[in-house]
Amino acid sequence: MARGCRCFVARLGHDVVAFGWLASGVEWIGELELEIRPGRGEAYIWNCATDQRHRRQGFFRSIVNGIVAQARQEGMSRLWIGTLDIPAAKAVADAGFVPALRFTSVWMSGMRWLRVRRAETVDSDLLIAAREALSIAGRPIRVGASLKRADRRTH
Ligand SMILES: CC(C)(COP(=O)(O)OP(=O)(O)OC[C@H]1O[C@@H](n2cnc3c(N)ncnc32)[C@H](O)[C@@H]1OP(=O)(O)O)[C@@H](O)C(=O)NCCC(=O)NCCS
Repeated sequence: MARGCRCFVARLGHDVVAFGWLASGVEWIGELELEIRPGRGEAYIWNCATDQRHRRQGFFRSIVNGIVAQARQEGMSRLWIGTLDIPAAKAVADAGFVPALRFTSVWMSGMRWLRVRRAETVDSDLLIAAREALSIAGRPIRVGASLKRADRRTH
């Protein structure tokens, strides 16, 4: 919050049972060891989770839909989100997100191997925007594989 990120929560009575974060500044994506820098009028949804006791009751779907509605109301032009290959990701597609890039990352002996692929259905404008949002040292991220020393940074 001190960095200007906003936290959206779902409550059951007084209890917070799910949450998701929204950032318009630079964020570290730990799973990929990459920074995302949303463009002007854009933001990035990250760290969504539902309390284990309340899963599969639509809370994640509500969080994503709620953030999308709020972003629309504020006139944002685009939201980014990263998903794992898990069944709950369908809530993300249902909210209107389309895939831009696909990643495979592997850590081994202090090294991180990362493969970046374009999503099968991505159009060229979205591909360019996604690569720019994930620029490394000012250059759009390359599609392909790379190997570097692991960088276990926290947010
Ligand atoms: C991923 C996670 C946030 C999902 O939260 P949730 O509140 O249980 O998700 P929802 O109930 O909103 O589910 C959304 C859809 O995915 C389906 N779904 C969720 N988990 C599922 C599972 N394990 N198997 C099959 N379907 C599942 C739901 O049935 C629902 O579909 P429906 O509306 O058609 O029935 C939760 O499992 C979690 O906190 N995991 C650990 C953190 C994590 O992996 N976050 C990454 C999010 S990309």
